[in-house]
Amino acid sequence: MSRQLSVIGTGVIGNGWIARALARGWDVVAFDPAPEAPQRTRAFVDNAWPSLTRLGLAEGASPERLTFVESPEAAVAGADLIQENVPERLDLKREILAALDAAAEPEVLIGSSTSGFKPSDLQQDCTRAPGRVIVAHPFNPVYLLPLVELVGGDATTTEHTRRGQALYRELAMRPLVVRREIEGHIADRLMEALWREALHLVNDGVATTEEIDAAVVYGCGLRWSLMGTFLTFHLAGGEPGMRHMLEQFGPALKLPWTKLEAPELTDELIDKVVAGCEHQAAGRPVSELDRRRDDFLVELLDLVQKYWPEAEGLQGRI
Ligand SMILES: NC(=O)c1ccc[n+]([C@@H]2O[C@H](COP(=O)([O-])OP(=O)(O)OC[C@H]3O[C@@H](n4cnc5c(N)ncnc54)[C@H](O)[C@@H]3O)[C@@H](O)[C@H]2O)c1
Repeated sequence: MSRQLSVIGTGVIGNGWIARALARGWDVVAFDPAPEAPQRTRAFVDNAWPSLTRLGLAEGASPERLTFVESPEAAVAGADLIQENVPERLDLKREILAALDAAAEPEVLIGSSTSGFKPSDLQQDCTRAPGRVIVAHPFNPVYLLPLVELVGGDATTTEHTRRGQALYRELAMRPLVVRREIEGHIADRLMEALWREALHLVNDGVATTEEIDAAVVYGCGLRWSLMGTFLTFHLAGGEPGMRHMLEQFGPALKLPWTKLEAPELTDELIDKVVAGCEHQAAGRPVSELDRRRDDFLVELLDLVQKYWPEAEGLQGRI
């Protein structure tokens, strides 16, 4: 049975959803008010398709199964799943989600890609079936990274969440149900903490953007991609594991190593960070870096699958 994903907002994230759904053999109907949106999306899908082909396409998968329409209402007709990806502004999201809720069949799930907002806040103006509006937060590039954080709001029932898990699994994703709604969900909380410290290190002149990236790329990042934070530290305790690790390094957690408060984004800090990243990119356009990252991720997903075969949803395939 063929499936339809309706995509509202086709920027970086909406396009990522489109490429993922097309590769899984779904039909996609999209809406975005920007006049250049259809052309931009087709170029995006073309750029992603070689990596998706290497991962393995579902039967019948084709970039031709994408249609752009002129209104959100037209986009949601016939949807099995609706994904909202408009800019991260609460007033805008509430307005769009209320219109989608009014237009879509009441049993159709509406996932919001929001990085930070809580689903109860997003559901506020929905009058028809607010519980079906949930957070379904993906990671860039959406067509390759399997994680999607699912968060329900006050009106959401376990039945909505269960249906969400099943649908996103059909898109070859690894749903992670967040037990309680908080701003930033789980993964962005973690990334923000690292990002804040990284900005302090640049601001204080301790390290360049390149040096900080090297610390992640050649060190902690390599381990994180297989085992995450907790299991990695369990191994750091030797045979006794986490208990010994906490005895040894626990007290250091109280030392004032981390700043927690974000630094002020002064013009000077912005210039330093931008110049650092441009130096690292060395004139290579983002689309070229995207392709290099994608090739790497396809092989990395295979490696994680090889060394953690019991893990769900890591291979990005159906
Ligand atoms: N960029 C990331 O890494 C990332 C990761 C995960 C989640 N998100 C979330 O995804 C969402 C979209 O972020 P993005 O990075 O793709 O932004 P973006 O700026 O790249 O794209 C936003 C798109 O929404 C369109 N848009 C504006 N008003 C609209 C409207 N009224 N109806 C339909 N479309 C409209 C714009 O034309 C644009 O194409 C945000 O909620 C963000 O928090 C972003």
